Amino acid sequence: MRIPLFAANWKMNQSIGEISPYIEALSSRLQKFPGQLGKNYQVVIAPPATHLQAMGAVIGGKGLELGAQNCGHTASGAFTGEISPKTLQEMQCNWVIVGHSERRHIYLETDAMIQGRLRGAFENQLKPIFCVGETLAERKAGKTESVVEGQLLVLKELKNHLTNQDWVIAYEPVWAIGTGENASPQQAQEVHAFIRKWAKSHLSGPVAEKTRILYGGSVKPDNCADLKRQPDIDGFLVGGASLQADSFGAIVENSLKIRS
Ligand code: 13P
Repeated sequence: MRIPLFAANWKMNQSIGEISPYIEALSSRLQKFPGQLGKNYQVVIAPPATHLQAMGAVIGGKGLELGAQNCGHTASGAFTGEISPKTLQEMQCNWVIVGHSERRHIYLETDAMIQGRLRGAFENQLKPIFCVGETLAERKAGKTESVVEGQLLVLKELKNHLTNQDWVIAYEPVWAIGTGENASPQQAQEVHAFIRKWAKSHLSGPVAEKTRILYGGSVKPDNCADLKRQPDIDGFLVGGASLQADSFGAIVENSLKIRS
């Protein structure tokens, strides 16, 4: 049973002062929903690393979970500017986004680096939200599946972790991120089904069955229900629309009406 997961990726947005009102508004909205937060569905907030401590202090006891937006490949060492996965764990941060397209395309993180970060996360008991997705040029050239498969290959050496620990995949087509143009439910479902099939043949049947696959890219309150109806879409990784508690809460609410 894959319970829905909704993750807010704040990217490099919001001030520390905005955390408290946001969490108050979101959590009072979520309390009105049917189903129990943390049991029937999960909500992760990934603020900038500079906000994690303040966010951690505010979300305690509310059922919301804390996520980071990236982590280093190892617990400690001479790696200026990196964020230790061990320290994230000490800060009650359970989740970490790895391989986001902005890290791949703006900061030129390679598959090898992303694999290291995934390993660092797993070895420090963090749950990765592992992102994959093709650019518009790659889609137009008919390369969506081969690009996504190339990105998935890093998982092959992490099989033990993937079997024994919790983690999720996020399919985020680069052309849909921050553009207002989401993948259609059919386009998203096709890639999600492909990812699950790949996981079944290259990882294992049980891993493919239990692993949640989130969709990300211009998810909004008015397009999430149709996306959520797709059998292989298990939740969302939301950027812009997660910055307001109202719109993120509406995404969770409208999605939960579809399937829990
Ligand atoms: P938008 O929801 O702003 O398109 O961003 C998606 C994303 O990159 C989430 O990680």
